[in-house]
Amino acid sequence: MRALSGIQPSGELHIGNYFGAIKQYVELQDKHEGFYFVANYHALTSIRDGSYLRDLTLEVAASFLALGVDPNKAVLYVQSDVPEVTELTWLLSVVTPMGLLQRAHAYKDKIAQGISPDHGLFAYPVLMAADILIVQSDIVPVGQDQKQHVEMTRDIAAKFNQAFGEEVFKLPEALIMPQVAVVRGTDGRKMSKSYNNTIGIFEPEEVIRRKIMSIVTDSKTVDEPKDPDNDPLFPLYRLFVDEQEAEAMAADYTKGGIGYGDMKKLIVSKFLEYFAEAREKKAQLDAHPDYVMDVLREGGRRARAEARLTLERAREAAGVAVVR
Ligand code: ADP
Ligand code: TRP
Repeated sequence: MRALSGIQPSGELHIGNYFGAIKQYVELQDKHEGFYFVANYHALTSIRDGSYLRDLTLEVAASFLALGVDPNKAVLYVQSDVPEVTELTWLLSVVTPMGLLQRAHAYKDKIAQGISPDHGLFAYPVLMAADILIVQSDIVPVGQDQKQHVEMTRDIAAKFNQAFGEEVFKLPEALIMPQVAVVRGTDGRKMSKSYNNTIGIFEPEEVIRRKIMSIVTDSKTVDEPKDPDNDPLFPLYRLFVDEQEAEAMAADYTKGGIGYGDMKKLIVSKFLEYFAEAREKKAQLDAHPDYVMDVLREGGRRARAEARLTLERAREAAGVAVVR
């Protein structure tokens, strides 16, 4: 089995990215072949500052490593080091119905936010399909918000196979962890770089503390019973503790006696404890950018070799491999 996933370098990684996606990458790399990449072509749909994009790309790659993606087990690369995906994007574009792209939630959300769409934003899911299909991945570990894009990938793959009469592509499945499908941000909405409600994994301690302490709650007093299923703090706490600790806290919370301020302080300390090792590793990696670059170079080489095999089959099937 082969797992593949990517994250756009459109900001520093936050805990939604970790629990929704990266944690699964790390778990999967022991049992399956993993291909994990920094989606910088995708990030170009929102970032128009070359040096900023370059820095963020390395920042996200170092974050993957710090959080446990192991280059001896998985292939870690930058999307643009596999330029074959852009050629495959075109081959897939010709079989992708306009209606399919028009139904994409992510696209519709961007339009609703008032972003004036360009072709790159509209074609985003086709590029994502190319990423996934080019290494013949079986599973795609992502958060809930990407489920539709993986379903679109299946549709596009099936259309291509059918159009050209060959099983060039495998149909991949999304892998979504139901408990952490959507991590909420500090304002209660889905945590997302675009909503400015994130808690970054590698932010300075005082920033993390300030953000957690500023989460808005209702005005229940310390003694009032609180509902763990309907509260902005408990789901956050739960991310950092095991099942037993979560259940014990749920019981105390329901009884009353725990104030929101105490709960927030507890979350800060659990957060820092949970990510202590990763934060230390990130600081070391930041001091050794050459190491990160070496890992990416080797990962790009391996991913590219794999991508060429699939692209060649697609070119043959479509009849564009002509001159030999
Ligand atoms: P953002 O919304 O902050 O721009 P991305 O779209 O780059 O994040 O997401 C990268 C990965 O992290 C995807 O697999 C996505 O599903 C996952 N992810 C992002 N935000 C969350 C969240 N709040 N909860 C769960 N998973 C998330
Ligand atoms: N669209 C994904 C996101 O915003 C990033 C991404 C690009 C991706 N290509 C991918 C995720 C391929 C999984 C597989 O989060």
